[in-house]
Amino acid sequence: MKRLTVPAIRNRKGGEPIVMLTAYTARMAQLLDPHCDVLLVGDSLAQVIYGLPSTLPVTPDMMIAHGAAVVRGSHHAVVIVDLPFGSYEASPERAFETAARVLAETGAAGVKLEGGVAMAPVVEFLTRRGIPVMGHVGLTPQAVNALGGYGARGRSNAEHAQILDDTRAIAQAGAFSIVAEGVVEGLANELTAAVAVPVIGIGASAQCDGQVLVTEDMLGLFERTPRFVKKFDNLAGRISAAVETYAADVRSRAFPGTDQVYAARD
Ligand code: KIV
Ligand code: NA
Repeated sequence: MKRLTVPAIRNRKGGEPIVMLTAYTARMAQLLDPHCDVLLVGDSLAQVIYGLPSTLPVTPDMMIAHGAAVVRGSHHAVVIVDLPFGSYEASPERAFETAARVLAETGAAGVKLEGGVAMAPVVEFLTRRGIPVMGHVGLTPQAVNALGGYGARGRSNAEHAQILDDTRAIAQAGAFSIVAEGVVEGLANELTAAVAVPVIGIGASAQCDGQVLVTEDMLGLFERTPRFVKKFDNLAGRISAAVETYAADVRSRAFPGTDQVYAARD
């Protein structure tokens, strides 16, 4: 199966919803790839993989190591890699250097970056130089210190207007799609109607052009999850039960059994 392309994703506006999940490792990418249109190597690997308190400490090297693993583990989905905090905001040139390195060293098809009106020049600079950019508006976790937390966005009139401006600016600058995170449902619908590129929701609305979740959250593997996460499984419970059985079998010498030991050659 030929790998999907960025233009194919952009052309899904208003059509069949885009299926997107995060992936950080080759094996998880293999498992998700047949079912997903986009695999996002999210900087959420900070919390999910590294036990960090926020996404702010993530480095380009971390994103590149995991991005390359996800590209190796997939052959169907479009792979997009998050640009980490501090690696793109200062100038379009700085952003280009980071993004070019990410694409060259991972084989991913594009990058995602957070921000609105202020990041529009960065998005335009990258897209005009052949680097596809996915935007990310609303609840932007790299701005947690400015936002004061991870609560839903767009409840006040001022915030509503700002997020609408942000989304329009990023679309106008050439983003091929935009993640809208943690925005109230009515605003998510408005954003989706306001721009000509797909809006991919997370904690947003079923009317968005696609949905994304953190894979470990939707599998019930990660312990603390926002209210917008639907748990499609309870992997944490299943892993605990399997490991409890393993520990008991080791202690009782039930493991290894006859099937798991090598007989002497006769
Ligand atoms: O880092 C991430 O996982 C993300 C998605 C939640 C959109 O940015
Ligand atoms: Na992210």
